[in-house]
Amino acid sequence: MQNTDAALALRSSFDAHGQGHTFRHFDALTPAAREQFLAQLESVDLALIARLARAGADAKQDFSALKPAPYVALGADSTDARNVGEAILRAGKVAAFTVAGGQGTRLGWRGPKGTYPATAVTGRPLFRVFAEQIAAAEKRYGCAIPWYIMTSPLNDEDTRAFFRDNNWFGRNPADTFMFPQGTMPSVTFDGKLMLETPGSLAVNPDGHGGAVRALSASGALEDMRARGIEHMSYFQVDNPLVRIADPVFLGFHAANGGMSSGEMSSKMVAKRDAAEKVGVFCDLGGKTGVVEYSDMPAELTTAVNAHGQLRFNAGSIAIHAISVAFLERLASGGEDGSFALPFHRAKKKVPYWCESQAKTVEPAEPNATKFEAFIFDALALAAKSLVMETSRVEEFAPIKNASGDDSPASSHQIQSNRNGAWLEKFGVKVPRRPNGDVDARIEILAETALEAGDLADAALPREIKAGDEVVL
Ligand code: UD1
Repeated sequence: MQNTDAALALRSSFDAHGQGHTFRHFDALTPAAREQFLAQLESVDLALIARLARAGADAKQDFSALKPAPYVALGADSTDARNVGEAILRAGKVAAFTVAGGQGTRLGWRGPKGTYPATAVTGRPLFRVFAEQIAAAEKRYGCAIPWYIMTSPLNDEDTRAFFRDNNWFGRNPADTFMFPQGTMPSVTFDGKLMLETPGSLAVNPDGHGGAVRALSASGALEDMRARGIEHMSYFQVDNPLVRIADPVFLGFHAANGGMSSGEMSSKMVAKRDAAEKVGVFCDLGGKTGVVEYSDMPAELTTAVNAHGQLRFNAGSIAIHAISVAFLERLASGGEDGSFALPFHRAKKKVPYWCESQAKTVEPAEPNATKFEAFIFDALALAAKSLVMETSRVEEFAPIKNASGDDSPASSHQIQSNRNGAWLEKFGVKVPRRPNGDVDARIEILAETALEAGDLADAALPREIKAGDEVVL
């Protein structure tokens, strides 16, 4: 559209919003580069950026009335829930949904995080772990569980190539649906859009809350409707112990409030300690929501109750069940646009085009504000939501950092601890260190067992020795 009226109009609207500097190098670009740049600029919602920039760093949340959220405690009677969950799985009403658009910078892995070798003995990549679990659940419930995966423009190509190279992990390729999430421009601390190169803006993935728009725009929601899917099992790409088709959780969710369906439900674990970097389920004036660890005031993060336990103890493991109808409602934004997820702001180091050096520069200090939406903000918009407690060792072994907490090493230990505990239930002797950790590497494949009870039919060793590596 270069040199057309539309291009001129775009330029003057950037001028009018105080963002005319983005055209600084425009006239020196090749015709093809101009075309590409104009397409990117056209997708920017200037009014939204202006509003977000104006809201400013001082727009603090009010936490004065914050209370811990209610939840279904571990050990609650789950027989009915399991029946409901198994019924909706058998009826083919459940899909899996992975958010895999993050950049994985903390782990330092070059490539999509889902390609990271995650399991304790065979080093199965995260995507394979999930694929095998979905396949085993499909077999058990005699249904297809279509798998939707949100990538980002930065890792979409590599993610698709990984699935192709691995022959879709033996599942029907038509049952895996990938789509990239959207992006948001980063801005300087005075609200100016930034160039990454003379012909492109600095942008970042728009957060996992971007799933709402991307699920709709990609046709994924329509695809779910066509397949008769009613609920999505939502999980992050970083947790190899996630239970994707958990009948108990899906049942609690689907039967929430009697016959009518829950809109969004979440799993929680008791926090490891005050410093653990997890969002916390809170009662936000009568509605359940998550307050992110980075937003929670320190005095609330460390507050204890009369028994000396953390008052805000319900850690989010970022596992949700979300109804398709609710997502459709969210994607429509509501008649007045009020039914939309808010953007959170974070100060980050964003590579930018340095005019004096005539190259893209990585800053040493945060130089920009990134805007991201979070899926858990949808909880407070749901008519019916529920939080269910689960056991940390059963379901939460995330891989986020290269070392220390939430690292490959800590994840391997939790995986072995969980698998050791499953084996002990069937009388297998498992070596443990004085701190209770299993002193062996144990991997249990999804085709062998999706939950401890499945081992009843498996051929098990009598004893595992310290230092053994066992795959079942
Ligand atoms: C996240 C949660 C935190 C929760 C913890 C549990 C957020 C903001 N916080 O923290 O409440 O307690 O996990 O492990 O989510 N992603 C996208 N697109 C994006 C950004 C992220 O798909 O634009 C995906 C990532 O691929 C990853 C997940 O979202 O699967 C989490 O992202 P990350 O930013 O690493 O969140 P955490 O700080 O680990």
